[in-house]
Amino acid sequence: MIQVKDQRFTLQTKNTEYIFEILYDKYLVHLYYGGKTAGETVYSSRYKAFSPFTAEHGTTYSPDTCMAEFSGFGNGDFRATSLKLKNKNGDSVCSFEYRSHRIFAGRIELPGLPYADANADTETLEVSLLDPVTGCGVQLYYTVFPKEDVISRYAVIENRSGGDAVIEKSMSLLLDLPGCEYDMISLYGGHNNERHYQRRPLFHGNQSIGSRRGASSHQFNPFIALCDHHATETAGEVYGFNFVYSGNFLDEVEVDQLCGTRVQLGLGSENFSWLLKDGERFTTPEAVMTFSAAGIGQMSRNFHAFTRNHILPPEPFEQRPVVLNTWEACYFNIDEAEMLRFAEAAAECGTDMVVMDDGWFGARNNDKAGLGDWFENKEKFKDGLAAFVDRMKAKGIKFGIWIEPEMVNPDSELYRAHPEWCLQVKGRESLLSRHQLVLDMGNPAVIDYLKESFSKTFEGVALDYFKWDMNRHLSEVGSTVLPPERQGEAAYRHMLGVYELFRWFKEKYPHAMIENCSGGGGRYDLGMMKFSTMIWTSDNTHPKPRIKIQYSSLLAYPAATMSCHVSNPKNVCADPDVLKFRWQVAVGGALGYELHLPDALQEIKDTVKKQIADYRVYEDLILRGDYYPLCNPYETEISAFYYANGDHSRILLSALQNSSFSGHFYTLSVPGAQPDAVYYDAINDLTLTGRQLIVGIRYSTVDKDPTGKMWYFVKQ
Ligand code: GLA
Repeated sequence: MIQVKDQRFTLQTKNTEYIFEILYDKYLVHLYYGGKTAGETVYSSRYKAFSPFTAEHGTTYSPDTCMAEFSGFGNGDFRATSLKLKNKNGDSVCSFEYRSHRIFAGRIELPGLPYADANADTETLEVSLLDPVTGCGVQLYYTVFPKEDVISRYAVIENRSGGDAVIEKSMSLLLDLPGCEYDMISLYGGHNNERHYQRRPLFHGNQSIGSRRGASSHQFNPFIALCDHHATETAGEVYGFNFVYSGNFLDEVEVDQLCGTRVQLGLGSENFSWLLKDGERFTTPEAVMTFSAAGIGQMSRNFHAFTRNHILPPEPFEQRPVVLNTWEACYFNIDEAEMLRFAEAAAECGTDMVVMDDGWFGARNNDKAGLGDWFENKEKFKDGLAAFVDRMKAKGIKFGIWIEPEMVNPDSELYRAHPEWCLQVKGRESLLSRHQLVLDMGNPAVIDYLKESFSKTFEGVALDYFKWDMNRHLSEVGSTVLPPERQGEAAYRHMLGVYELFRWFKEKYPHAMIENCSGGGGRYDLGMMKFSTMIWTSDNTHPKPRIKIQYSSLLAYPAATMSCHVSNPKNVCADPDVLKFRWQVAVGGALGYELHLPDALQEIKDTVKKQIADYRVYEDLILRGDYYPLCNPYETEISAFYYANGDHSRILLSALQNSSFSGHFYTLSVPGAQPDAVYYDAINDLTLTGRQLIVGIRYSTVDKDPTGKMWYFVKQ
């Protein structure tokens, strides 16, 4: 709910409140964001010497010390700016005053960008600001998602100056908090090792994470949180932030001289500038925030519900398919005969879908050639793709295919015909990465080619699924179709082109599901989730690192987005304990397999069949239930968590041990269990009362590697 009274705006969600007001009829000052306040929050000046003020209002207001909603540049606010806008006179000073506002149900579309869908509860506040000197305007949009305790923010920048302006820095969300006694949680990593949890106390100064790679990246995820120093999974105050965008970003957190904390998320200034002609508007991507007074777990649940209800596309199938992917089993060695063996084995073991990974197109026998040539390799599929896919599906499975539309190998027909279609900078060598270059997706001719090429190749092919990959980052980011003054726009325009192609795929193949991938989880972000039912969490399928990667991913994203495969290197291991542990880790998310099932021993096939049957019993809790983290694997030897339905009549509890060590005890408590109910756990043949579950189950670590334990409690 959004209310305005006496120039004060109050945005309310189920458990939170966000308040700001207009001071002296001009300045937007932030007052409060957190749990619902009992009393009134009032503005009081926080003046400090050396902070500039206006002659009219003296030290009662300084842009440098007030908590702001949006900050200008060069106007006396010396903290990080929300907008740097070079005007027709050549300076970049800007300063904004309130002009008007309106409140409306639902929300407005963000042109070309992914954004959260509105539902019946969604409301938006638009606040219009003006810089009276340059004539440029900014509209701030606050959209409230009450049920999920999420508020989103973005800005529209409008040039009404009568000349050209250049956006040199743009941020979507600014939140000023009065204190700085917080830890910052962020997710860092690299390929094969993405999204690792780190938590550090804030220090005075600017601490930021971001990406300059043209993708949200393995290295830093756009999600961050600020929490009390003592916040745990279940207690303490936590603010969570994320960005609905998949390219370069900046999350900056600055602790100022007054021990206040400024948080900003947006495109930043590196790898981004935008020429805004007179009369034009630029819409920033959307950023989101949430607040939890009940620990880190509640923050995650807020974001999970928000992502499920407002971001993810509808599930294309009644039941999420368990996928058998060919990559780790075959790499590039695929052809029709081999794939048909996969289809048979998949049907035998109960995997619903075979996803034929890389190697089916052009001259693609290794990673040095073929990308860009999106037609089937006739030596591997002699009767063509359509006939092959029909034969696969006749075995009783669904069929998915791997694509990497944004990329090209120099050794390809496409590159030989159109070298100018790659991102490039005149006179500079275009560096290779995985022997490939990046297509300039901001060039409409490239998008047209890709649409035409995929339409032709997939004409009459009964595809159920695309695994959409992206296997390098962007260097030498320039475009042959942009004039010099617009080269700073290339990375952003590239991303808009990528989204355009995703939208086209969703419209052209509405029945098909997209699994997103970027060398694993290199684009694990809310922008990609708008189009992708799930994301390949990591190329690292070893269960131990996966425990941590999955814990960290779940901080911000729901389990339904985590594609998790049981792998078995060289397919030789039939040790039931090893396969069991790999499965126990993989059922933290959407289960799949990365095995050479056709060559597997019968006992492995039987194990897979049983694992899938077990998963089906509680799959709905994992994909649609609520997630409760209990033990953080970065702080203890175990990762413990449970999934439950709304009334906690069904609870799936897991403890996954990360090291072989005996004698440490953990109490795994299920606070939401119904105290008077009796629960039966069929996995361990155990009967417990709800009260006993609330007190907690004792798990003691054992000196055995690998080790995991699961309980599935159903109210009797
Ligand atoms: C990336 C993906 C893998 C696989 C290969 C194919 O590395 O993460 O899962 O699809 O590409 O080349």
